[in-house]
Amino acid sequence: MEENDASPSPASRAGLVVVANRLPVSLENRSDGTQRWRHSPGGLVNALEPFLRSRRGAWVGWPGTTGQEVPPLEDGDLHLYPVTLSADEVGGFYEGFSNGTLWPLYHDVVMPPEYHRGWWDTYVEVNQKFARAAADVSAPQATVWIQDYQLQLVPAMLRELRPDLRIGFFLHIPFPPVELFMQLPWRTEIVEGLLGADLIGFHRPGGAQNFQWLAGRLAGAHSDRPPQQAEFHRGEIRVGDRTVKVGAFPISIDAGELDRLARRPDVRRRAEQIRADLGHPKKIILGVDRLDYTKGIDVRLRALHELLTERRTEPHEVTMVQIATPSRERVEHYTRMREDIERTVGRINGEFGRVGAPVVHYLHTSVGREELAAFYSAADVMLVTPLRDGMNLVCKEYVACRADLSGALVLSEFAGAAAELTRAFLVNPHHLDEVKATLLRALNVPAQEGRQRMGALREQVLTHDVDHWARSFLTALSSAPSSRHPSGRPPAPQEPARHTDWVLT
Ligand code: ADP
Ligand code: F6P
Repeated sequence: MEENDASPSPASRAGLVVVANRLPVSLENRSDGTQRWRHSPGGLVNALEPFLRSRRGAWVGWPGTTGQEVPPLEDGDLHLYPVTLSADEVGGFYEGFSNGTLWPLYHDVVMPPEYHRGWWDTYVEVNQKFARAAADVSAPQATVWIQDYQLQLVPAMLRELRPDLRIGFFLHIPFPPVELFMQLPWRTEIVEGLLGADLIGFHRPGGAQNFQWLAGRLAGAHSDRPPQQAEFHRGEIRVGDRTVKVGAFPISIDAGELDRLARRPDVRRRAEQIRADLGHPKKIILGVDRLDYTKGIDVRLRALHELLTERRTEPHEVTMVQIATPSRERVEHYTRMREDIERTVGRINGEFGRVGAPVVHYLHTSVGREELAAFYSAADVMLVTPLRDGMNLVCKEYVACRADLSGALVLSEFAGAAAELTRAFLVNPHHLDEVKATLLRALNVPAQEGRQRMGALREQVLTHDVDHWARSFLTALSSAPSSRHPSGRPPAPQEPARHTDWVLT
């Protein structure tokens, strides 16, 4: 491998490397012309950062700016390796193929995906860039953990560059049903890219099963070799002389840390203050999301609007707070959705608000962890209504902040978390009348039933935290049959791997 000035020396290469589209911090341009590092948005960063920090690992990712060379840097115990992207690359790879093609396709086409050859070409080039950066940073025999839909070609590209590495991949969003995935013009390339990993993780067993079926159907389809190159058994796929493990590993949060944060006297005082600032309403309803069309923010606003119109709830009884992190603002679907949501907020407040007492408080911003814990502690009902979500961490965070067992969680059946949080008020977000009825049930839940539900939810969240998730994945990765061959020679043929159930539910 070639060395250049920006590459770490062999001695400083890392044994555990995370490769993700974004670094855990992003550079923000300020109006005065200066820049500052800010915490990056999204569940992936919030979940992985504390874990990787505790392992003193390295993180390869985009620093959030365009065309700017950012040298490697240390952030406490984390080693950060920025991957520079040009404005064209951000346009084609991030806004285009990742968020204009893959994101809507993998989220059940709740918006129509667009297929553009130029976007695909840039996706390939940028994945190659990430693979090269990961190859430069990784120590011999290192474990490299590649994250999410933006980097699905990196496993095979990295294996080509560094056959000595142990490579894991985890998909943080849903893997789509087979018939939707088959729409993708580059479906074979994506499947073959993922099959470069030793272990591929999904949130749900259904995703793992869909992928296995597709691998059997598509891998090798473009080569001269006979089709059907991959064979699968439960939990593993044989590709030529390699075995790729596939499994479900539901991600979670640092539940203990949030539980402690929410119990802190200053956070509890802040929660009291929030209630007072809102005018001590009888009930506070809360939504916390990236401003994304998959999150169903419009659904909950429509439900509230209809309940108020039908006088099934009164404006002086409920106050809704929606905190929405700005997200992907240059992608058209996002711009339109923001306008739509802000119009609906205005309409509700116009019809039902009073001077100094709007019904919906809408904050288009990201708030810090302590402030977030205070909002979670102040809210009587948490509304989490995605049309489709890989997992959804917000609902788990709410539960972690309810040590006194008060509060009620309304949760979409189409969030991955619904499989674990079965004592939430589960709801079909496509069925508006059901959302309205469920919201009313949650607002009026008898105290004893509410405590029982929250107790069961907390049991699940506190015993299945992010450390459990990361350890499960890395343990499975370390015991996956090795594809490594440090000499560059292909490995000797292996005995067929023993069947193991990798689906951890
Ligand atoms: P996604 O990864 O799609 O954004 P998740 O629910 O899995 O969705 O994770 C979202 C993460 O972002 C959570 O950790 C949540 O606390 C955080 N978050 C969402 N909205 C905000 C906000 N407005 N301010 C601060 N953090 C937020
Ligand atoms: O898991 C979904 C995800 O896309 C992550 O990959 C990412 O960290 C998060 O949402 C935020 O999205 P973005 O990086 O596009 O702002």
